[in-house]
Amino acid sequence: MSHRIGYLVGSLSSDSINRVLAKALVRLAPEGLELTEIPIRDLPLYNRDDEQNPVPAVSELKQSIEGSDGLLFISPEYNRSIPAPLKNAIDWGSRPWGQNSFARKPTGIIGASTGAIGTAVMQASMRSVLSFLDAPQLNAPEAYISFKPEVYGENGEVKDAGTEKFLRHYMEEYEAFVERVLSSTLPGHMGDSDPDSMH
Ligand SMILES: Cc1cc2nc3c(=O)[nH]c(=O)nc-3n(C[C@H](O)[C@H](O)[C@H](O)COP(=O)(O)O)c2cc1C
Repeated sequence: MSHRIGYLVGSLSSDSINRVLAKALVRLAPEGLELTEIPIRDLPLYNRDDEQNPVPAVSELKQSIEGSDGLLFISPEYNRSIPAPLKNAIDWGSRPWGQNSFARKPTGIIGASTGAIGTAVMQASMRSVLSFLDAPQLNAPEAYISFKPEVYGENGEVKDAGTEKFLRHYMEEYEAFVERVLSSTLPGHMGDSDPDSMH
């Protein structure tokens, strides 16, 4: 069965290494995953005043998240945390209260950095945020990418066999995780509890 996966890139830079990584992941994903970007560039800064009458970019964001079977976050680390554009998108998607678009969506977090620890601290922050949003997360493998420009082509070609194998494996494990989460939340299963009972 095919699954629609929305991915969010946490960088707005035109030469983003995380966008290169996203292209590589799209190339290496198993056939059963249909990956589509959920854009975050045009979102205004989150403001509670606008929750009830949001601009179209916000409504489209929420629809795209809700219409996805799973979500993948591909993001840099900024000052040891989540980049503001990505956190802003998450804040919009989580609101209004009781209409959290992320609830129960199987998620994966991966990121590339020019530094040695490959976005590990950002990913730890993301896990805390996604836990609060009731979004199940792929725990293993973890994917901390210390970006080597010579390894990637412009269109996401991966020139190093070991890196290609790792990224392919990551996407296969993510697919298996999405299937596990979706099958455990089928109607009638114990996992299908009343979402309102959480709050
Ligand atoms: C504001 C800012 C903060 C950064 N903070 C970190 C950091 O905490 N850890 C890290 O490994 N790299 C950090 N970097 C370097 C990024 O890894 C590097 O700029 C990378 O290319 C960003 O990803 P992108 O190309 O997808 O935008 C920072 C860069 C910027 C612009």
